[in-house]
Amino acid sequence: MSDRPRLLPLLGPTGHGGRDAMTCLYRCGNACDHPVPNTSTNDYLGDVVNREMSRRGVVRAGAVGALVLGFAGAAGAVPATAGAAGVPAAAPRSLPARRAGVLSFKAIPPNKLDNLIVPNGYDSAVVMRWGDPVLPGAPRLDVAKQTAARQSRQFGYNNDFVGVLPLGGSGRRALLVVNHEYTNEELMFPGFTTLDAMTVAQIEVALAAHGMSVVELERVGDTGRWRPSDAARLPYNRRITALATRFEFTGAAAGSAWLRTADDPRGRTAVGTLNNCAGGVTPWGTVLSGEENVNQYFVGGDGAPEDLKPKLARYGITTTARYPSGSRKWERAQERFDLAKHPNEAHRFGWIVELDPYDPQSKPRKHTALGRFKHEGANVIVAKNGKVVAYLGDDERFDYLYKFVSDKKFQPGDSAAARRHNLTLLESGTLYVAKLTGDSPAGQIGGGGTLPADGAFGGSGVWIRLVQGTRSFVPGMTAAEVLTFTRLAGDAVQATKMDRPEDVEASPRTGKVYAAMTNNTNRGVGGNPGVDEANPRNANKHGHILELVEARGDNTAEAFTWSLPIVCGDPADATTYFSGYDKSAVSPISCPDNLAFDSAGNLWISTDGNALGGNDGLFATPVEGPDSGHLRQFLTVPTGAETCGPFLTSDDRSVFVAVQHPGELTGATLEKPASTWPDGDFAKPAVVVTWRLDGGPVGS
Ligand code: FEO
Ligand code: CA
Ligand code: CA
Ligand code: CA
Repeated sequence: MSDRPRLLPLLGPTGHGGRDAMTCLYRCGNACDHPVPNTSTNDYLGDVVNREMSRRGVVRAGAVGALVLGFAGAAGAVPATAGAAGVPAAAPRSLPARRAGVLSFKAIPPNKLDNLIVPNGYDSAVVMRWGDPVLPGAPRLDVAKQTAARQSRQFGYNNDFVGVLPLGGSGRRALLVVNHEYTNEELMFPGFTTLDAMTVAQIEVALAAHGMSVVELERVGDTGRWRPSDAARLPYNRRITALATRFEFTGAAAGSAWLRTADDPRGRTAVGTLNNCAGGVTPWGTVLSGEENVNQYFVGGDGAPEDLKPKLARYGITTTARYPSGSRKWERAQERFDLAKHPNEAHRFGWIVELDPYDPQSKPRKHTALGRFKHEGANVIVAKNGKVVAYLGDDERFDYLYKFVSDKKFQPGDSAAARRHNLTLLESGTLYVAKLTGDSPAGQIGGGGTLPADGAFGGSGVWIRLVQGTRSFVPGMTAAEVLTFTRLAGDAVQATKMDRPEDVEASPRTGKVYAAMTNNTNRGVGGNPGVDEANPRNANKHGHILELVEARGDNTAEAFTWSLPIVCGDPADATTYFSGYDKSAVSPISCPDNLAFDSAGNLWISTDGNALGGNDGLFATPVEGPDSGHLRQFLTVPTGAETCGPFLTSDDRSVFVAVQHPGELTGATLEKPASTWPDGDFAKPAVVVTWRLDGGPVGS
C-alpha cells in the first residue's frame, strides 16, 4: 500500500499470585483453581554440569561511576539482524543516539493510587479507551444502549498487546494495533447479576468486545504524544471480533480432521479469535497475536468423544462436568461453544494469529506451524542466515517454552514481491520446544532461592525438534497432531516444565532472548514438580526473568546457554537477585509479564498481579554493562489493573502501555466501581501514551 513506509522506523517489535478473584474468573476461567493440566511424568534432571557459562565470571561494581562498557560491547555484538540479513534497517537514525545501559529517570515508589503515575518530567494521556469509536461514524460509548453492532465498531474491552506501526514516511502517522483479551461483564453491563442471567444480546456484546482493533494515530505537535487521527477518511481502522471475523488456517494442520467442524467441514477457516493476550510486530510490518486462555469459553467437555477427552483436559478444558466453573455461558448465544455438540470447535482456538494492518481487506490467518497452546504471544527476529525465528511461551504453570524457525528466508526491501513473500514466512518451518539443564549440582538448588556455589542460576539447553513442515519428530503423532496438540508433543519429548512462560522476546541489539516467568505458586507444592535450576524457588510468588543465549549468536541454533538475570520480589528479600547489582538501589518487582526493548537495548518489563501489595507497573533495566540489574519502576497503573503492552517507538520518544482490567476487584460493578479511571465515572480499560516533557528519549 502506498502509505506503507520505506523503512519500518519502529524498533520495538514489538493469575492467583496477587490477583483478585474476579481476575481469576474472567481472565483465565479460574485456571489456578483447576488441577495443573500438565500431569505428564516428565521430570527434570537438573544436575548436569556445564561450566561454559559466560555470565558467571562477571563481577558487577555496584556501579556509580564505573566504566560504561555497554554500548561498544553491544554494538559489536549486534548480529546481522541490524541490516545484513535484512531487518528493514531498524531505525539507524536512533541507534547511535543512545548508549546501552544508560537509564536515568528517577524511579517512582510503589503505590496504590487509582491513577496512572509516571516519573517527574513525564506526562501521559489516554489514546483509546473501551467504547471509543474505531470505525468511522461509530457511536460513542453509552452503556445503557450497548449492542453488539455498536461494540463491533468501537474499541474493544481489556486491551492487552499494543503495537504501533508507522504509516507513511513523515513520522507523524501510525497504526495502533491492539488485542482485546477478555471481558469483565460486571463492569460492562448496568444491573449485571450473574453470567447465567446474561441475555443473548449481552453475550453477543461480549463476543464483539473480544478481538483486536486497528486505529490510525497522529503525533501531537512535535511531542512524543499521539492521539487518534482526525483525518476525514480512516481506511485502515478496523475491528476484528470473536463474533464475526473469518480467519484462514495455514500450515500442516490446516484442513486436518481436527479442524473440521459443522461450520467449515474443510477445516480451513475459523470464526473469530479469543483471549488475544500479547503479541509482536514482525519485521515485515504485520502483527502477531496469541490466543491464550481459550479453554474457559467451552462447555460440554463431558459429552465429547472419549478419545478426545485427554487432549481436551491437557488444554485445561473440563471433561467431567457439563458446565464447569468459570465458563462464560456463551453456548447460550452460539451452540459451537458446546463441545458435546461441536467437539472440534475448541481446536479452532489457541493459535498464533497474523494480521496485516496495512491491508484492511486482508483476511487474518491462524498459523498452525507455530503450534497450539495457551499462546502468550510471539516475537520474531531475523536470524543471521535470514530465516525468521519466533519465540513463544505457553502461559500455564509447568508448561513450556517454544521457538519456530521458518523454512524460507526474509526478503528485505519494500517491493510488493518482497512483502508477498514475507507474508508466507510463518506458514512453514520447524517447531521446537526447550529443554533446560542446570550447571550446578541439584543439591545446591534448595528451593529457597539461595544462589548455587557458582554465583548464579544458569546452565545450558537444547531446542528439541517437534515438527518440520509435514514431518513429525514425535513418535506416534502426525505433524497435524503435533501442531494441534503441541502440549502433548512437549510432554512426549520431556521438555522442561517452566513457571508460566509469558512474553519471550529477542533483543534486537544483541539477539539474546529474554523470557518472563510470571510466577508458579504450585512449584514444589502439593505433589507438583519441585524446583530445578531454571525454576529455582518453591511456591514461586514473584516470578523471574530468563536470559537465553543461542549458540554462536545464531537464533536458529539448536543449543543455547541460559541464566536468570533477575529473580523477582522485594529486593530486601534474600531470595531475589538483580544480576548482582546493589539491591538497595533496585525497585521491588513482582510477576513479570510483558517485555519490550528501547533502542539502546534496555529491557522494559510490565507486571501482572503484583504479589507485593502495590499496583502493577512498568519497569526498565539495562541488561548489558555494569548497570545490568539496576531495575527501576517507571510507571504504575490504577487500582485493580495490570500493565500490558508495553511498546516503545524506535525514536524512544513514546512509551505505550495498555491499562487492562482497571477496577477488577471482587464485588465491584459498573454502578459501584473499584476504580473510576480514566474519566472519573466508571473504570474503562485504555491504551495510554507516556512521553518526556522536554521531548527527549524516554528513560534516559
Ligand atoms: Fe494473558 Fe499470559 O497473560
Ligand atoms: Ca500477559
Ligand atoms: Ca513484548
Ligand atoms: Ca499474565
